[in-house]
Amino acid sequence: MYEDSTQLNSGPRWQHWTLRYGGALAATGIALWTWFLWPVMHLDPFAVFIAAVIVSARFLGFGPALLCTAASALALDYFAFASYHLSLRLSANDAERMAVFVLVAILTAGLARQRSRAEIRAEQARQHIAAIVESSDDAILSKDMNGIITSWNRGAEQLYGYSAGEAIGQHVSIFAPPGQVDEIPAIMKRLLRGGHIQRHQTERVRKDGTRLMVYLSISPLRNRRGEIVGASSIAQDITVQKRTEEALRRNEKLATAGRLAAAIAHEINNPLEAVTNLLYLAGRDPESQQDYLRLAEKEVQRVAAIAQQTLGFVREPSSALPLNVAETLDQVLRLYLPRLVAKRIQVEKHYDPAADIRGFAGELRQLFSNLITNAVDAMGESGRLRVRVARSHEWADSQRQRSGVRITIADNGGGIRRNDMAHIFEPFYTTKKDIGTGLGLWLSHGIVQKHSGSIRVRSRTTPGHSGTIFTVFLPSLVETPKAA
Ligand SMILES: Nc1ncnc2c1ncn2[C@@H]1O[C@H](COP(=O)(O)OP(=O)(O)OP(=O)(O)O)[C@@H](O)[C@H]1O
Ligand SMILES: [Mg+2]
Repeated sequence: MYEDSTQLNSGPRWQHWTLRYGGALAATGIALWTWFLWPVMHLDPFAVFIAAVIVSARFLGFGPALLCTAASALALDYFAFASYHLSLRLSANDAERMAVFVLVAILTAGLARQRSRAEIRAEQARQHIAAIVESSDDAILSKDMNGIITSWNRGAEQLYGYSAGEAIGQHVSIFAPPGQVDEIPAIMKRLLRGGHIQRHQTERVRKDGTRLMVYLSISPLRNRRGEIVGASSIAQDITVQKRTEEALRRNEKLATAGRLAAAIAHEINNPLEAVTNLLYLAGRDPESQQDYLRLAEKEVQRVAAIAQQTLGFVREPSSALPLNVAETLDQVLRLYLPRLVAKRIQVEKHYDPAADIRGFAGELRQLFSNLITNAVDAMGESGRLRVRVARSHEWADSQRQRSGVRITIADNGGGIRRNDMAHIFEPFYTTKKDIGTGLGLWLSHGIVQKHSGSIRVRSRTTPGHSGTIFTVFLPSLVETPKAA
């Protein structure tokens, strides 16, 4: 890089000073020849010499242009004004013309030099940018409005495996994986409207057929008049990054599963120990046998509750089915009616009856039931529970919106303390001591993820204004249905 820029600044080697000044004298000589051979030039002897000065300034520099001016003045004096001898005593008219010639020549040389310097600077900047593009590790290419590739850097060669010769002139769809070719006209349409595409995550295919994950940024290219004439595209290979992320996620899942297994063993161990003791006592003490067995049954139910909570409660069909969210939520709410009435909790419902999605009904019931139980647990007497189901949108990424349904469950209970907030979605995290297993929100989060949705919580513990709002977004379509 450094070598490139020093070479750019020093200019071409042929511009050695002897060559440039020699060139200026040669230009004067050619002007003189022209003047000799072309009698019409005698009418205005300055014209041809001014041309020599301009050529010298334009191509050889300011110094050679001055030399050319001086040599031209001498030649004019010798050949044109003083008839083959040098004279310092020209007529007033000729002296004036000569002075004007020298002045105009110097001015012209100055202007020509300025222009050529600006051009050199522009050329250097262009070469500099070209060098940056060429040495970039990102694949940078440009294409015309029909999607035909017009330039191709080394990064593109490495990323896609095509040499510049192979790629230039081809359509960009050569590296779109089958099924994603449709994306290209949509991108071109957006560019035509002057839009940009920023860090769009997509797949591309190399020349050898291997697939790549890339971030694509595409911007329109405009000509001097501001019209869009093509697009430049920068692709960054994120295949390795994605693989690492996936491996980390898998590790994280395994670690969570490990922690969960240990926690379940621990949770189940206590009631099992109690059952063992109670059965032993029941065998020993026939009189209180019934009481011991009843207690043992309660402990077994506790184990069953933990197992049911953990292991997916209801067997679900392996694919998502159409369901109405408002209806599903209302069914769950009806189950809790006795508890709500007993606690004198006021319920406000706002349902959009057309909130239909595809999902797993049993799991969604479990999700709503967890959120409602938490809200009820958090509220004292005369609480207020607000449930809302509305059709809505959410950004899937910076480019794409998904339509779906937003469910809000809000209570005016005591709220979640800041310290607890960071942990509420962890398994077995509970503030309810003996009555909670701490699995509710952990499971809820898993269910929302399975539906490709999102779950958010806002909470306030300020006395008199406390409360918690859980918001769940479920997209109309589950993107990657996983088997239950
Ligand atoms: N609406 C809410 N208001 C206040 N605190 C809440 C609310 N929802 C959840 N929490 C807090 O989050 C913790 C974790 O909730 P989670 O549902 O996972 O477990 P749990 O309710 O304690 O037990 P269970 O497994 O029986 O549901 C709760 O113990 C509680 O402290
Ligand atoms: Mg709960």
